Amino acid sequence: MDDALRILEDELQSGLSRIRAATSLEELEAAQVAAIGRRSAYSEVQRSLGKMPDDERRVVGKRANEVRAELEAALAEVGLALDERAEAVSLEADRVDVSLPGRRLRAGSLHPLTITEYEIVDTFVSMGYRVAEGPEIETDWYNFTALNIPADHPARSMKDSLYVDIPGMLLRTETSAVQIHTMESQEPPVFIIAPGRVFRRETTDATHSPIFHQIEGLAVDEGITFSDLKGTLEAFAKAMFGQDLRVRMVPSYFPFVEPGAQVDVSCFKCGGRGCRVCGNGWIEILGAGMVHPAVLENVGYDSERYTGFAFGMGLERVAMLRYGIPDIRLFYEGDVRFLSQFGRVT
Ligand code: PHE
Repeated sequence: MDDALRILEDELQSGLSRIRAATSLEELEAAQVAAIGRRSAYSEVQRSLGKMPDDERRVVGKRANEVRAELEAALAEVGLALDERAEAVSLEADRVDVSLPGRRLRAGSLHPLTITEYEIVDTFVSMGYRVAEGPEIETDWYNFTALNIPADHPARSMKDSLYVDIPGMLLRTETSAVQIHTMESQEPPVFIIAPGRVFRRETTDATHSPIFHQIEGLAVDEGITFSDLKGTLEAFAKAMFGQDLRVRMVPSYFPFVEPGAQVDVSCFKCGGRGCRVCGNGWIEILGAGMVHPAVLENVGYDSERYTGFAFGMGLERVAMLRYGIPDIRLFYEGDVRFLSQFGRVT
């Protein structure tokens, strides 16, 4: 019995000192296993209780319980202290200086072509036009025939247009094709603005690209005249480029309008005196004209009753003039140094 009691005292002392010396939760756990684990000297004493005579078991058993309680109390106490310390250490490690300035997120901005498109479209929407769209792959009918473009017109050749593998289909060469889709699907009055991509068989250089963008306009109703066309384009040009701007129309030819015109605006750089941007003071920005009666008849409109005007402009060209961008390829390269100069974010 004395042996057993001595073992318990030794285990209590060595256990307590090991528990108190623990500097981490791992060390504490090792101390617990050594002091009261299944293979500890303490557990051995407990297992031997069964073989002891009653009086001896009472004394040793009582002491064993006391020793265990003392060790467990020490384990709990040290465990709590170590937990608190670990928490403090991790809080310290995670400490942030809330007074430091934040890291600013870099906001993107709209592409200059998108900005220009929105501005043009907004100008016409404010005049009562609605936005229309059409497919980028067209049939011969929509891209040429309905637009009064004769079978032998050079635009139809493989040299100028991009055909796809499906017979009779091509990538649309102008947004004028949207005129036909719109008129086929509704009766006058028609007032639409149609932005979109167009495709031509071109080699790329500073002012040409096989894929570019146009914005088409179409107005058809009873009593629409050429002066409505001129007034509309003037209002648009002034809203877009400034109130001092002058517009002039020079006779031109497009199969789907009659008469047709090339629309020039006075140079917004030099005010029309002549400079490096414009040369002679005028900048050509649009093709336009009165919708050809044959086109109206092609979509089933009564060309005796209705008249209309149409116009089309190149979005890249307008954006290049507006921002002074010297090379069309800059629009498609995705260079952030270029793109980030166009601030408007919406
Ligand atoms: N579609 C013509 C072009 O691509 C522009 C245009 C549109 C001309 C509408 C007249 C009327 O050049």
